[in-house]
Amino acid sequence: MPTDKKESHYELVFGDVIELLPKYNEKFNLIVADPPFGLEFDKSSHEYGSDDYVLYEDKFSDKEYEDFSYNWISACYDALAKDGALYVISGWTRISEILDAVKRTKFHLINHIIWFFGWGVFARKRYVTSHYHILFLVKDKNNYCFVPQFSNPNTKRKGEKYEEDVWYWPEYNRGNDPDRVKAHPCQLPLVLLEKIVKISSKPGDWVGDVFSGSGGTILACRRLGRNVIGFEKNKEYEAVIKQKAKFGEVIVPKSENEAKKTTLTSFLNN
Ligand SMILES: C[S@@+](CC[C@H](N)C(=O)[O-])C[C@H]1O[C@@H](n2cnc3c(N)ncnc32)[C@H](O)[C@@H]1O
Repeated sequence: MPTDKKESHYELVFGDVIELLPKYNEKFNLIVADPPFGLEFDKSSHEYGSDDYVLYEDKFSDKEYEDFSYNWISACYDALAKDGALYVISGWTRISEILDAVKRTKFHLINHIIWFFGWGVFARKRYVTSHYHILFLVKDKNNYCFVPQFSNPNTKRKGEKYEEDVWYWPEYNRGNDPDRVKAHPCQLPLVLLEKIVKISSKPGDWVGDVFSGSGGTILACRRLGRNVIGFEKNKEYEAVIKQKAKFGEVIVPKSENEAKKTTLTSFLNN
């Protein structure tokens, strides 16, 4: 647990998030969710087949996946404050089940963001998959946090901040990620997690990551002065999460000005 009072609260809770979330009624201002893909991992790949990686149980039929999605998305709805937001990150193969599940809840879909990345698995007879879907959902469409970070000096709206719904960090790849740890098969970049946290929460807010994986959201929140609780079903990731999110080390949150720097250069130099 943090000792310096300037640090934010950070915590890791193990178990099934559908069972755990009911204890956190209206607690969170922001929830980040990168759910299991619901497809079996290809263990013949040189990366996931290697002994360095611990793979999690990830096999669902279409119907099971939609019901699972509905259950955890509904649990997130109840765990969010009235002005709260949920970000759901998903590959294209399960996005239809997730969208169908969202329609069954009371969430409002504000944006459907595409994250374009440059390390898709090479393919000869089809297009290389090089994007993810990110759904930005809110409980109340008239009352939610949105703090744009981007201003383009080359447009008429000089100096005015706004955000676009296609994200791309050309300098980023998994090989140069200073925070990536071996052992977890699917890790989101800190630059992406920090963007979500900065836009959809304020310093001191409570953030939840309902599928912590390697713990990137915990680290992003600690760096940005948000209180954070990460949930994870698989106890085998405990050491990975604690290493990546620097449990036990003091992290004094960035100042507002430092936090505004969104370039990857500043990200890589941290
Ligand atoms: C796609 S990964 C998340 C990766 C994470 N965003 C990162 O950057 O490392 C999904 C994670 O959810 C966990 N998980 C699966 N079902 C869960 C459940 N019902 N409750 C909590 N965690 C679960 C898996 O063990 C896996 O670590």
